[in-house]
Amino acid sequence: MTNEFKQDTIALHGGQTVDPITRSRAVPLYQTTSYVFDDTEHAASLFKLQGSGYLYSRNANPTNDVLEKRLAALEGGVGAFAVASGQAAVLLAVLTVAQVGDEIVATNALYGGTYTLFERTLPRFGITVRFVDGADLAAIEAAINDNTKAVFTETIGNPSLQIADIVGISEVAHRHGVPVIVDNTFATPYLAKPFEHGADIIVHSTTKFIGGHGTSIGGAIIDSGNFEWNAQRFPAFVDSNPLIDNRSFVEAAGKAAFVTKARFELGHDLGATLSPFNAWLFIQGLESLSVRIRQHVSNAKAVATFLEQHDLVEWVNYPTLAGNAQQDIAAKYLPKGAGSIFSFGIKGGLEAAKTFINAVELLSHVANVGDSKSLVIHPASTSHSRLTPAQQISSGVTPGLIRLSIGLEDIDDILADLEQALQKAGVQALVTAKEEQ
Ligand SMILES: Cc1ncc(COP(=O)(O)O)c(C=O)c1O
Repeated sequence: MTNEFKQDTIALHGGQTVDPITRSRAVPLYQTTSYVFDDTEHAASLFKLQGSGYLYSRNANPTNDVLEKRLAALEGGVGAFAVASGQAAVLLAVLTVAQVGDEIVATNALYGGTYTLFERTLPRFGITVRFVDGADLAAIEAAINDNTKAVFTETIGNPSLQIADIVGISEVAHRHGVPVIVDNTFATPYLAKPFEHGADIIVHSTTKFIGGHGTSIGGAIIDSGNFEWNAQRFPAFVDSNPLIDNRSFVEAAGKAAFVTKARFELGHDLGATLSPFNAWLFIQGLESLSVRIRQHVSNAKAVATFLEQHDLVEWVNYPTLAGNAQQDIAAKYLPKGAGSIFSFGIKGGLEAAKTFINAVELLSHVANVGDSKSLVIHPASTSHSRLTPAQQISSGVTPGLIRLSIGLEDIDDILADLEQALQKAGVQALVTAKEEQ
């Protein structure tokens, strides 16, 4: 029923059927590990992916279920699996399609944690990731071979803000029978709709804007239901599986084959499931997502304009600013705005950047984004510090780059804090210039 409603209504009601016994208006928190089976047959059927009911909260939980259904409805997918972190969402999405000997093609402007997972950890398990320039569709196509199991990108790259040409990437990938996985964390379902442009799987770090209040770590995998799992490249989706009564995942789950396989195999075996309490907190966050994002975007635009006009600022990278090279692609994929995370550089380079970050008072210097509070960090020495200098450059992380995540405080207070920190950095830049003379 909820898919018929508009987005803001789905964010409040999606996935919830009011409990007929208690009539609780709020989604109840089912803080339970397990569920009483009807009888032994019922128990056995659940273990084989038959019948209805809950089995154990590592596999599924009624509170998580509401979050999953709500996220799936907001993204326009057929199902979702809520997991313990954004990092787990990326890993489990990849492991649902790839195993030892397989390959993934990834755009190189990614969150540092994802980059390191792909570059250092997945190869230890026999999965090779080929990094390519996300703006170069020919390079993406050239990197796909018989072993490729997915193309991975971020809607808005962290922190380069490179916006993925999801239509182009999906056309290239689908030509070769390969699905596209998109990390939609920076955009949220309010600003971008990757499935409408051809993406097959979406992952989120719900830790960020979806939670919105910096209280909980979590993630989600969402299945569009659109990808045709072909026998040649994806036998594990179409071959009969003894664990589910000799059916295949496609036979057992139809369009939701991907998310069902992710939950049944990796949710069960690896155990990176989201706790119900965090699911419940993310449901609270989702209810106000669109209102918050509208204010995030409005504040971010004001800050980007302020910085762009500031004498002490060298450059600002916010996709919808006049003259930004990504204006057209932003208009196509992010018609309601380019989010509230962006980057800039100040005169005086790295030293001035450090002075600026140490001088902010209202903004918080933390390793996070997408909080209701305004945040700042220096990615080259933190979130992307595990990358080599060359990898940092190819990911769009230059030494002096400062990343901002603009929150919901009064815009005058945000600008005043930025101004006083810029002035301190400006003094520092003058001192450094004098010393170098
Ligand atoms: C774009 C993106 N994806 C995934 C993650 C990982 O999410 P989590 O910290 O919830 O594991 C992050 C974290 O910053 C991120 O920025």
